Amino acid sequence: MPRDGAASTKSAAIRILGIETSCDETAVGIVEDGRRILGHAVASSLTLHAPYGGVIPEIAARAHVETIWDMTLQALAESRLSLADLDAVAVTQGPGLPGALLVGLAFAKGLALCLDRPLIPVDHLAAHLYAGEMSDETVQPPYVGLVVSGGHTVLCVAHGEGRFEVLGETKDDAVGEAFDKVAKLLGLGYPGGPVIDRLSEEGRPASVVLPRAQSKQPFDFSFSGLKTAVFHYVRKAADGQPAGLEPQQIADIAASFQEAAVDVLVTKTLRAAQRTGVRRVVAGGGVAANRRLRARLTEAGAADKLQVVFPPPALCLDNGAMIAGLAYPLLQRGRVAPLSVASDPNLCLT
Ligand code: KG4
Ligand code: ZN
Repeated sequence: MPRDGAASTKSAAIRILGIETSCDETAVGIVEDGRRILGHAVASSLTLHAPYGGVIPEIAARAHVETIWDMTLQALAESRLSLADLDAVAVTQGPGLPGALLVGLAFAKGLALCLDRPLIPVDHLAAHLYAGEMSDETVQPPYVGLVVSGGHTVLCVAHGEGRFEVLGETKDDAVGEAFDKVAKLLGLGYPGGPVIDRLSEEGRPASVVLPRAQSKQPFDFSFSGLKTAVFHYVRKAADGQPAGLEPQQIADIAASFQEAAVDVLVTKTLRAAQRTGVRRVVAGGGVAANRRLRARLTEAGAADKLQVVFPPPALCLDNGAMIAGLAYPLLQRGRVAPLSVASDPNLCLT
């Protein structure tokens, strides 16, 4: 397909390669017709950031430069395709770390130019929600979207055709960031979400009383007070030193924190469905892999007769398949960018 053309034939399968480099994952996915994942590869620079307790932007960008070609070759090998078989190149335009985004965008531009294929910039948050549409064919807009990741916590209504109405977002920490910071306070390492998820199974969720922040706006979130409450609890219980806590105490704090965070997410998401009258909910982003959130929202949604959709856990975390997937309807609508397109670290469902 020529670089400036929208999809012209309906019959031939359209294969798009999607590149994701907004944070610490270097991910490439190849998806056919917006749904069928033919190949995907992910490398994470996580171990390089672990000693610092958070992602170091410069290290993330360098790691993308080093691994992006290998990930591309791996995704191609898995899909049994060559570069010439691709119909378009998609890439995360934002939001994300500025340097990390630039690496993915520059690489995507190079590929699009040398293959003479269209370049499709994709909103990372919209792609997290599209992962829900990819995983279940019955899921179509409109739906209430809950994006919960390391950098964002957003409630919206997806109206379709790329139109989103943002209902609320976090006023301070993103919920994934709160998981990561609480894990650090408890000496559990980075990233905190998966560890807290696992450890919470051994803890008692009602054992530590923690706040459920209700901001003035019905759909906004705030997680920094919850994180600070955990900090004060640890300071009182063990002089601020995780080493002074018993393993059961750590599990109890983790489970109580997780329960408080999940409570707020579930309450506000259901409220959004009730107030908007939209009967379907799609959750996406790394925290949507959390087992307690999946169970609680699914159960509460069923009680309210809502359809609640979570992508499989691997599609909740950052990946290239969701970028390639969402690029398909964008290509059909002619949303192709010139090679001068810039990344946008602050993009948010626009
Ligand atoms: O969407 P994502 O992979 O990257 C961003 O776009 O930020 O989300 C990463 C976040 C991290 O904060 C990580 O701790 C959290 O998702 N996370 C989880 C779980 N798995 C990843 N949080 C809670 N429970 C999990 N199982
Ligand atoms: Zn993400």
